[in-house]
Amino acid sequence: MTSLTILGIESSCDDTAAAIVRDRQVLASVVYGQTSLHAAYGGVVPEIAARAHAEKLDLCVAEALESAGVTLADVDGIAVTAGPGLIGGVVSGVMCAKGIAAATGIPLIGVNHLAGHALTPCLTDAVDFPYLMLLVSGGHCQFLIVRGFDDFTRLGGTIDDAPGEAFDKTARILGLPQPGGPSVEVAAKTGNAAQFDLPRPMLKQPGCDMSFSGLKTAMLRARDAVVAEKSGLTPQDQADLCAGFQLAVTDILAEKTRRALTVYMADAPSTPVLAVAGGVAANQAIRNRLMQLCETMDVQFVAPPLALCTDNAAMIAYAGLLRLEAGQVDDLHLSARPRWPLDQNAAPLIGSGKKGAKA
Ligand code: KG4
Ligand code: ZN
Repeated sequence: MTSLTILGIESSCDDTAAAIVRDRQVLASVVYGQTSLHAAYGGVVPEIAARAHAEKLDLCVAEALESAGVTLADVDGIAVTAGPGLIGGVVSGVMCAKGIAAATGIPLIGVNHLAGHALTPCLTDAVDFPYLMLLVSGGHCQFLIVRGFDDFTRLGGTIDDAPGEAFDKTARILGLPQPGGPSVEVAAKTGNAAQFDLPRPMLKQPGCDMSFSGLKTAMLRARDAVVAEKSGLTPQDQADLCAGFQLAVTDILAEKTRRALTVYMADAPSTPVLAVAGGVAANQAIRNRLMQLCETMDVQFVAPPLALCTDNAAMIAYAGLLRLEAGQVDDLHLSARPRWPLDQNAAPLIGSGKKGAKA
């Protein structure tokens, strides 16, 4: 197979990213985060995100090319996230990619952002198909059986908020810094999870769907009850609430993963693998529980390095590379799709993450 060099572009949420991937090697991966731009608003503001992407995309692409030591003349394909995500951001990336493609004649490849996440274990760990992917971040939460580069079966996912969103909200209501996941994890280390009785929504319902919005509301009520009783929160209350919340999320993810693994194992994969991606997969307590579960079920646990687990353009370049190898390219009519489910046969979702309609 000939060597292919792909420029990847990602701008579907609050990270402006460009990367160069050659075959299975990441030559450069540049990510410009926008956390400080949105900090005052308590969440991603779509218009601010879109403007920041438009301002930074060309710089980001130039930096990726330079740090990879390549020029556009070396690039065989331009892969860009064409959805799902915040429409203004996706349009910014697609327009940038189209501009470069129109000026150079390099083939344009539209990539589904979720496919980028879902295919990352092939890039980082050379995992064989089929594997089970748990995508768990601020905008996504779903189980996918990945059977091929364009063959995904969605087994279930959140019907409302993504867990990362719930971590962020929990941090906000407890006065802890954003992003909430890492601060809740740190606080939880000194907390007693049994101090608060928090719900595990949908745990008793069959299937792999999940819900996190009720847990968010329960956290608010638990905090209000403490504040009403003591006129404030002590650091120990914060820690106990964080520990209780983290355990509830862990219990939900572990039980639903067990069910998803059971469905996946029914196909008798020769080397069963559970792969995780997304910022929440950085949580050590969640990781440990998933690893234990994999051990008991004789499944290999794969977690790509964090920089490739969270939003980045290397995953988009790699997914684009697989499409290009299969002869799948787009033309300049490629359009941005705010909603774009990976598995067209899966039932439509009732709700979606508040950080952006994902799929
Ligand atoms: O994948 P990601 O960087 O971006 C998208 O949402 O697409 O994920 C960010 C989310 C945030 O909600 C953040 O609070 C959460 O991942 N997160 C964590 C941890 N680190 C990041 N959640 C729990 N524990 C962590 N250690
Ligand atoms: Zn993502």
